[in-house]
Parts: sequence; structure tokens; C-alpha cells
Amino acid sequence: MTAAAQDILETLLTQEQIATRVAELGRDISREYAARNPLLISVLKGAVYFHTDLTRAIEIPLSIDFMAVTSYGSAPAKSGVVRLIKDLDIELTGRHVLLIEDIIDTGLTAGYLLRLLNARSPASLQICTLLDRPRRRILEALPIAYRGFEIPDRFVVGYGLDYRERYRHLPFIGVLKDSALQEADL
Ligand code: IMP
Ligand code: MG
Repeated sequence: MTAAAQDILETLLTQEQIATRVAELGRDISREYAARNPLLISVLKGAVYFHTDLTRAIEIPLSIDFMAVTSYGSAPAKSGVVRLIKDLDIELTGRHVLLIEDIIDTGLTAGYLLRLLNARSPASLQICTLLDRPRRRILEALPIAYRGFEIPDRFVVGYGLDYRERYRHLPFIGVLKDSALQEADL
């Protein structure tokens, strides 16, 4: 076990479960976006592991692009209001865009990003999220076309997801031990 993995209380999704599901999503997207040359966008850094594995599981022509945003403070965004610190390189006008997300929790971040992207007149805009935690949803009306897994109401790390910028590199998704959490977050 790696030192980082020692902080994990319980594995929620193994590397194999993630790989199997990502391959299925890749097949679905290949079928449903055939001949549409989709543009798969994600936001640094959480969705990057999912984005790179997912695109390698898609067999049709596509493009990729990335944005970087910062929320105010290091805690998961409370308002969904983020500041753009790196914009996309590719024009969205007339493109079939898929927003690739690591996790949709309250939905506020995705809602904010959708408004920003929709303002650039894409031909279509839908979400593909690896994890969906519907329990805490505030914004209900989101165009989630693809979802990897629905997860229970627990904070998770790994496969891109962080706690205070740690654990992103774990190849599986797990729940942290209380001992790894800072007292203020318990
Ligand atoms: P939302 O705006 O509440 O939907 O939060 C979405 C963002 O919060 C995600 O893109 C993550 O960066 C972060 N986040 C939410 N839940 C978790 C979690 O369980 N682990 C790590 N990051 C999370
Ligand atoms: Mg985060």
C-alpha cells in the first residue's frame, strides 16, 4: 500500500470498476456522437484523470480542451461562482460540446460553467460526469447525459478528486479516514 493510500478508510470504487465503466461510457459516446466531432471540455484539475481515460475509450474523431478556474477559498465551491484563470483555446460556436466533470454535488459549479459555455453558442451542450451525488443537489435541471456512478453522501478522494490538493493521484476512489482530515473539516 502506498503512503497516500494509508489515509483511506474504505475503497468506494476500485481501479477495475472505474476502468470498466469508463470503457462503457466511451462506447456510448462513440455511438451517440458519431459524425459530430464532439469537443470534450474539462476543468482543471479534478476531471483530468477521467477526461484522459475517457477520451482514449472513444473511437470517433473528437477534440479536447481545458479550462482552469478558481473558486473563492480551497473548500469545495459553496456558491458555484468561480473565476476563470485559463480560458479554452477552441471556439465553441457550432460545436457539439460535452462538459466532462469529476463529480456533481450541489450542481452549482456545473450550472455556472454551463451558463458560461452556452453564451458561446455551441450546437449542443451536455454533461458527462464520473460521479453523481444527488443527495445534496441544489440545482436540479442539469443536462447530465452520461454518469459513471451514483455515490452516497460521503466525501471522496482519488482518480482526480482531492482533499486540500492531496490524493488526486490515487488510482481508485475512496473515503478518507477521520485522522487524515483537518479538525476544522470534521
Ligand atoms: P458542486 O458545485 O457542489 O456540484 O461541487 C462540485 C465540485 O466540488 C467538484 O468539481 C469538486 O471539485 C468538488 N467536490 C465536491 N464533492 C467532492 C468530493 O467528495 N471530493 C472532492 N471534491 C469534491
Ligand atoms: Mg476540488
